[in-house]
Amino acid sequence: MNMDIRVDITRAKSAAVGKEHGITPAELAEMESPVRAAHKILRKERKEKTYGFYDLHKDKATLKAVKTAAAGFLEKGFDNLVILGIGGSALGITALHTALTPPFYNEMTRRQRKGHPRLFVMDNIDPVTFRGMMRICPPRKSLYVVISKSGGTAETISQCMIMADAMEKKIGKAAIKDHLVVITSPKGKNAPKSLLHPVVAEYQCQSFEIPLNVGGRFSVFTPVGLFPAAMLGIDVDGLLAGCAAMDKRCAKAGLMENPAYLRATVQFLMDTKKGKNMSVMMPYADGLKDVADWYCQLWAESLGKRFNLEGEEVFSGQTPIKALGATDQHSQVQLYREGPNDKIFNIVELGRFDKSLRIPNALGKIRELDYLRGKSMNRLMSAETRGTLDALKESKRPCMRIILPRLNAHTVGQLLYMLEVETAMAGRLYNVNTFDQPGVEAGKQIARKRMGGTA
Ligand code: PA5
Repeated sequence: MNMDIRVDITRAKSAAVGKEHGITPAELAEMESPVRAAHKILRKERKEKTYGFYDLHKDKATLKAVKTAAAGFLEKGFDNLVILGIGGSALGITALHTALTPPFYNEMTRRQRKGHPRLFVMDNIDPVTFRGMMRICPPRKSLYVVISKSGGTAETISQCMIMADAMEKKIGKAAIKDHLVVITSPKGKNAPKSLLHPVVAEYQCQSFEIPLNVGGRFSVFTPVGLFPAAMLGIDVDGLLAGCAAMDKRCAKAGLMENPAYLRATVQFLMDTKKGKNMSVMMPYADGLKDVADWYCQLWAESLGKRFNLEGEEVFSGQTPIKALGATDQHSQVQLYREGPNDKIFNIVELGRFDKSLRIPNALGKIRELDYLRGKSMNRLMSAETRGTLDALKESKRPCMRIILPRLNAHTVGQLLYMLEVETAMAGRLYNVNTFDQPGVEAGKQIARKRMGGTA
């Protein structure tokens, strides 16, 4: 079966939603040359290793190290895997977990989880939640993975301090190396100092590196995503094979043959020419709901920039919004159809769900339910998806579709990789630095100062 994911922009074109809201053939054709020019720059930057996310799927040595370490830790039989990290250090593994482990995974028995630990991603500093985690994930039964590229993020470092103290008290300092993994930037002359390096030295624990040329929100295919994924039994080889397959498709310079460039161009035109300054990511599968969350960070932090590459004030960026079909049809779609026409919709669909569920011949006396009897929930989901697509079209709301033949590691690898390349191209079209986040850094510094530290 062909596992290639498909992108369809038909419903974002003027032929579908009119010239005011849809892209005309001429507008698309005009983008061919800027996209080719941007492609050249991106290829050069890739070759020069300015940005490393493109080639992570080729790093066999890291994959081997991740798998070996995960196999060793799995032998210890931990009940819980606890991620301490925030932003790009947390959203990727959350997306992979929701997409690629069974629903209600943490509620399953150890046997049903095939011996893999439960997952808790601690991406906030709410003391109530954190204490709650500490109660159900005690050191003796847990592996804690601290992830911070900078190694200085106050939220993550404070979590690390709390758990280091708890571990020293409960299991003793010498045992910590069996319960702690650190993922941070490498040591080196040109590398910024990570406060997690002394943690590794102190406890002699397992550590992995996040390459310096890979930013937090582009790090899902480094050990940041791969190590916890391997601990959960996710098919990491399949994920990386999906990246490789998408990499091949994204190597093409032509707008119409490169799915990531096509999507970047439509989103860019929608924002700059059609007043769609919001981009809604709405998968019709529960498994993909955290991919929408991951996409929101990628799109927002990469493109929301005050200055362009020439240093001029531009205030660029499209506000990303996450939604879930069919659930949010009953909360947001009213606004989407009848509110301001200022959004582009990205509807993500599955060609086929892994399971089917028939609606039985129950409640037989209620004749009004005959239309559901004997049909499947799958068919109902597909009718709901089509319903939203057609209703949005009727209201002249532009949509792009992304279709995954099935939900598996290969298609999720393709999807995330495509969205990363799309973001890189969009950054070029907006003429901004896709890979920095000065707005986030400023907030981090202010918070540190307010806590009595130095900026
Ligand atoms: O994408 C990014 O760079 C950010 O969202 C970071 O991931 C986030 O701020 C956490 O930073 P760090 O990994 O350095 O703790």
